[in-house]
Amino acid sequence: MINAIQMTDDIYWVGVNDKETDLFESLWPLPEGVSYNSYLIKDEKIALIDTVKINYNDSFLEKIKGLIGERKVDYLIINHMEPDHSGSIKSLREAYPDLKIVGNAKTMNFLAGFYNIKEGTKIIEDGDQLDLGKHQLSFYLTPMIHWPETMMTFDEYDQILFSGDAFGGFGSLDGVLFDDELNINFYATEIRRYFSNIVAKYSPLVSKAIQRLSDLDIKMIAATHGPVWREDPNYIIEEYRKWSNYETDEGVVVVYGSMYGNTKIMAEAVARSLSENGIENIKLFDVSRKHVSDIINEIWQYKGVVLGSCIYNLEIFPPMETLINDLENRNLKKRVLGIFGSYSWSGGAVSRLQNFAKQVNCQLVEPVVEVQYSPDANMLDQCYELGKNVAEAVINY
Ligand SMILES: Cc1cc2nc3c(=O)[nH]c(=O)nc-3n(C[C@H](O)[C@H](O)[C@H](O)COP(=O)(O)O)c2cc1C
Ligand SMILES: [Fe+2]
Ligand SMILES: [Fe+2]
Repeated sequence: MINAIQMTDDIYWVGVNDKETDLFESLWPLPEGVSYNSYLIKDEKIALIDTVKINYNDSFLEKIKGLIGERKVDYLIINHMEPDHSGSIKSLREAYPDLKIVGNAKTMNFLAGFYNIKEGTKIIEDGDQLDLGKHQLSFYLTPMIHWPETMMTFDEYDQILFSGDAFGGFGSLDGVLFDDELNINFYATEIRRYFSNIVAKYSPLVSKAIQRLSDLDIKMIAATHGPVWREDPNYIIEEYRKWSNYETDEGVVVVYGSMYGNTKIMAEAVARSLSENGIENIKLFDVSRKHVSDIINEIWQYKGVVLGSCIYNLEIFPPMETLINDLENRNLKKRVLGIFGSYSWSGGAVSRLQNFAKQVNCQLVEPVVEVQYSPDANMLDQCYELGKNVAEAVINY
């Protein structure tokens, strides 16, 4: 048995699974791991598409050798230079000194800058093709999904789109590779968490790329992370299309920052009101205790967002600042938004949230509720009113 996975007559998955890294990009927890997918095309010429993180270099090279024996890898196609995919380039070049590295002009800057590789490269432009014998590869430049040099590679013979990070997701491949082999519920949340945290900022470009790719007859999508889509590539295209157009399901995410429970009581009143006013999907999170990447993930699914915070040393509660800063960075839009807060002497949390509301393109719903000390019955009525108005706005959006 070989530990590569055959995808078609000539194409193999030679990626690796990472269950050791705790934080992807030193930011995003990996409770279910992540895969770095690399693909090998065995034709008259042998081509590899992307590599793996350096930690897994040895098993990566072994997989390749197991498939091609004494033959050499002729081409390495680089869809993306982030080191989770480019880490093994240098050692691959050492193992195969004649290897030609194929990328666009921007790829070459990264290649020289990161790995001091300047020779033995082939620069391609958008629409160019590379002939491997039976297989022709076509290249599509997709800058800023999510780095400047990113591109996609289409195998014309097997009609496989090697899409780089687009259409990828967190979650290691636990014995499975293809969409028809796995339980999608396990991966669906992790795939959206990957999109909402890593790719969402570049949504308009994702949307454009999807339109452009609609001319291709795609039989399989093979991204740099997560499952290979062969039974239903449209599933992942449709998910990405929906997210990148900011389309959402009916539901509301309520997030609060609270030290001593006053802001939490307000959040619970809002949530109860949402429920009494017809919202079924209600997610209530303590911003200090739910990882920001999970909160962003939930916010990417639902139409309504309600944020409430106390104030801490004249600034909004720090984990709430992290969340709203991340939402601003990802250009949150097309949402119904409610805000509230609490203070004891200076105030300031609500004004920061109002400032946030101005920066994102969302529909701000009244009332904005601000409580001094603890919410009394009148203030809780206002929270109830806020929940009711958010529910109505979400249902009628
Ligand atoms: C360390 C600390 C710093 C605070 N800084 C401020 C502040 O700068 N301005 C203010 O109005 N209240 C401040 N407060 C008071 C809280 O923001 C206020 O009591 C709020 O209602 C607490 O909400 P919670 O019960 O949901 O934690 C501070 C409280 C603590 C514990
Ligand atoms: Fe990346
Ligand atoms: Fe990646």
